[in-house]
Amino acid sequence: MFSSRIFIRSFFFKRNKFADAPNVIRELGKVSKDSYSVPDCIQKPPYYHVLNKQAATVGQIEIKNEKQIEGMRRSCRLAARMLNMCEDVVKPGTTTDEIDKFVFNNIISSNAYPSPLRYCGFPKSICTSVNNIACHGIPDDRPLMDGDIINIDITVFYEGFHGDTSRTFLVGNVNESGRYLVEHNQKALMKAIKICGPGQCFNEIGKEISKYAKEVKLSNVRAFIGHGIGDFFHGPPEVYHFENTINMELMQPGMTFTIEPIYSEGSDELELWEDKWTTSTIDGSRTSQFEHTILITDHGCEILTVAE
Ligand code: MF3
Ligand code: CO
Ligand code: CO
Repeated sequence: MFSSRIFIRSFFFKRNKFADAPNVIRELGKVSKDSYSVPDCIQKPPYYHVLNKQAATVGQIEIKNEKQIEGMRRSCRLAARMLNMCEDVVKPGTTTDEIDKFVFNNIISSNAYPSPLRYCGFPKSICTSVNNIACHGIPDDRPLMDGDIINIDITVFYEGFHGDTSRTFLVGNVNESGRYLVEHNQKALMKAIKICGPGQCFNEIGKEISKYAKEVKLSNVRAFIGHGIGDFFHGPPEVYHFENTINMELMQPGMTFTIEPIYSEGSDELELWEDKWTTSTIDGSRTSQFEHTILITDHGCEILTVAE
C-alpha cells in the first residue's frame, strides 16, 4: 500500500525541481465562447450532430481498400498543409485562440471540417499544448511568449476521412534544453515510423520510442496512445508508445494508424486539469509531441501526413 505522506513529499520535490523552467503554465486561460459557424455545405462527422462518448479503440483493425487509401491520402495531405500554414502565425504575441481561428478558417476554406470540434464535447478546432502542457490543451487567451514551445495538433475530416498530425513549434528563442527536447522527440517518431511494415509487431513501436528516450536521457510519457484512423477519428489498434506486451498484433498492408510520442525533460507523470482535457506534467517540466498518420504498404510504410 502506498503512503500519502511520501506521495505529497515527492510531489513538492518534483514541483520545485523545475520551478525555473521557462514560462510554466500554472492555470487555465480564458476560453472564448464564440460559436463557430460551419457552413451547411461542409460534410460533418456523426458526432457533430450527436455527442459521442469515448471512442472504441479495441477490436478488429480495418484493412483499407484502394479507394479508402486514396481518401486517407487526401485528408492527411490537407491536415499536413494546414499544420505547415501555422508557421506564419506562431510567434510571440499571438494567442492560441487566434491560432485556432486561423486554422478553423483555413480548414473551412478547404471544404473540410476540423475534427476536434464537438468531438466528445471538445470546444475548439485544434489542440494547442504549450510548455508543460503535454496534450489536449484548449486554445485560450494566452499570448505566446518568446522561448515557448507549442504543440499544435490538427485533424481534418475531408470527403469522409480523418487525417491527424501534430508537431511542436519553437516560439522565438528557445533555450538549448528546449530545442534538444523537441529535436529528439521528432527523431523518436521518425525512428518508430522506420520500423513499420507488414509482419511487424505493433509493440516494436513502443520499444523503439522508449529505447531512444533512454539513449538521449529524456522521459517518455506513457499516458497517451496512437490509434487507428479512417472514416472514424479514433479506432483500433491502440498504439502504445512504451515497451509493452499489450498489443501483439502484426501490421498488415492497408492499415492506417497514428504514432504520436510525447517526451518530457522532467517527470513522465501527468495531471488532468479541471477542464477535463488539459494535461500537464506534475512538475511543470516541458514536453514535446509529434504525430503522423501512416499507411502500411506491401513493402514498408508511407507517411500520409505530408504536404508534398
Ligand atoms: N488529435 C488528437 C489525437 O492525436 C485528438 C484530439 S481529440 C480532441 O488523437 F477532442 F481533444 F480534440
Ligand atoms: Co492528433
Ligand atoms: Co492522433
